[in-house]
Amino acid sequence: MTGLRYIVIFAFLSLALSKSVRQTDEAKKELEQYILDKKPEIDPKWRLLYHVMPPVGWMNDPNGFSFYRGEYHLFYQFYPYDSAWGPMHWGHVSSEDLVTWKQLPTALLPDNEMCFSGSAVTDGDTMILMYTGRVISDVEPFYNETQYLALSDDGVNFQKYEGNPVLATTPNSSPDFRDPKAWRHGDHWYVIIGSKTDDSRGRVLLYRSEDMKNWQFLNVLGESNGDMGYMWECPDFFELNGKFVLLMSPQGLEPQGDRFKNIYQTGYIIGSFNYDTFEFVPEVEFQEIDFGHDFYAATTLGHDGKRYLISWFNMWEVPLPEDVDGWAGAMTLVREIELIGTTIIQKPVDGQKSLRDSEAIVTDLEPNQKLEFEKAAELIIEGSLDEKIELVFEGSEGGQKAWIRWQPDVRKVVVDRGSEDIRQVEWTPLGSHSWRIFLDASSIELFCGEGEAVFSSRLYPLGGWTVSNESPQSLRVEAYSLKRSFPE
Ligand code: FRU
Repeated sequence: MTGLRYIVIFAFLSLALSKSVRQTDEAKKELEQYILDKKPEIDPKWRLLYHVMPPVGWMNDPNGFSFYRGEYHLFYQFYPYDSAWGPMHWGHVSSEDLVTWKQLPTALLPDNEMCFSGSAVTDGDTMILMYTGRVISDVEPFYNETQYLALSDDGVNFQKYEGNPVLATTPNSSPDFRDPKAWRHGDHWYVIIGSKTDDSRGRVLLYRSEDMKNWQFLNVLGESNGDMGYMWECPDFFELNGKFVLLMSPQGLEPQGDRFKNIYQTGYIIGSFNYDTFEFVPEVEFQEIDFGHDFYAATTLGHDGKRYLISWFNMWEVPLPEDVDGWAGAMTLVREIELIGTTIIQKPVDGQKSLRDSEAIVTDLEPNQKLEFEKAAELIIEGSLDEKIELVFEGSEGGQKAWIRWQPDVRKVVVDRGSEDIRQVEWTPLGSHSWRIFLDASSIELFCGEGEAVFSSRLYPLGGWTVSNESPQSLRVEAYSLKRSFPE
């Protein structure tokens, strides 16, 4: 999202922000009551059954993905008072298994700062949120971004640190300075933050601290050479299978053939990193991590030797049809990621199988045959890759439809929402040749093979799902209906 747009929206919504100028317990209680009162007004037709979504109002980026006192925590950019972006709060959910979620009270309310994206770390018994405070001003450039802390000793109630902001300037005094991702290594805390150069090239800055409060600038971890966009949002940095990965969401990439077809991208650069010189040396150029229509601002969590990824399951500057129903925005399924060669592969977490509600339907689906499902289903599909595969997903009562196809001549997987709204990528299976497809009330996620090509797209059918085989070949299908795992 661009700075100018935030300012325009803010001008319209400053009234709502003034409602919560003081982050008192009373303001928090009022907000929870507002959410309870507002929920019954939501039209449930596209409410998801097993994806994280806001209780009411608007959701964007995942924030503060962490593990604290035996539970996974996920926060998110939240505006409760409208199903459109507004002064940012942090919504909050938790889970024991990354599959079944519990709604928790809103963690952060804006005071004079909007609570933009950030991360969470655990320091002893304390959970520390580090987030960007965006403050609007009446002098150019009309906003400023600095880094704030909020602390909790129970993982539910958060107090903003009195010494905020803890990190106020970039080496070039850029007002774009957002989305801190903090982690611990050895005796220090580290943080990377998205920013830009004076001539508007996206970059990521690296800092270090002994106490999360006093920060020292170390290095520019990565920077666009001119064709990698004007701003790098939501950076993340981690070790994966012996390499270092800089994951980020650049704005301003030009479409190139099948690549970069969404307005903004999320992807990664693989390289090596040295904690003595603080230098990241890229080895593989930027690659998108998901090829669907709706995927942005992904973030990860390392826990128990595994690395998990979750993403906003939408895109900026396109309609979110559910907004007429009183809510907007969702998260993808949590995926476990690994690096194989130069590709990050993504698989739904193991526990995802626990949502299977029925015996498997196993069948050979002949050409022109159909299967019907309720709103939530999982399908595993296999056909010959020497022939065309074409599946149509549509609502049993109409609404939007999509085609998933395999084009053997060009070896591409295609997700087609009609009207030339197509995303596609070449696919060379690493092992398995099957597709694992997750259908929810307004979404489709396709995992190809071992997860080397993944598509996340929102889709708005009416009623349950009808899946038709429009291939010239019969397809092997294993299907399950899925249980609810996110509160209504
Ligand atoms: C990314 C983003 C972040 C920012 C947040 C504001 O989608 O623009 O850079 O912190 O959204 O809601």
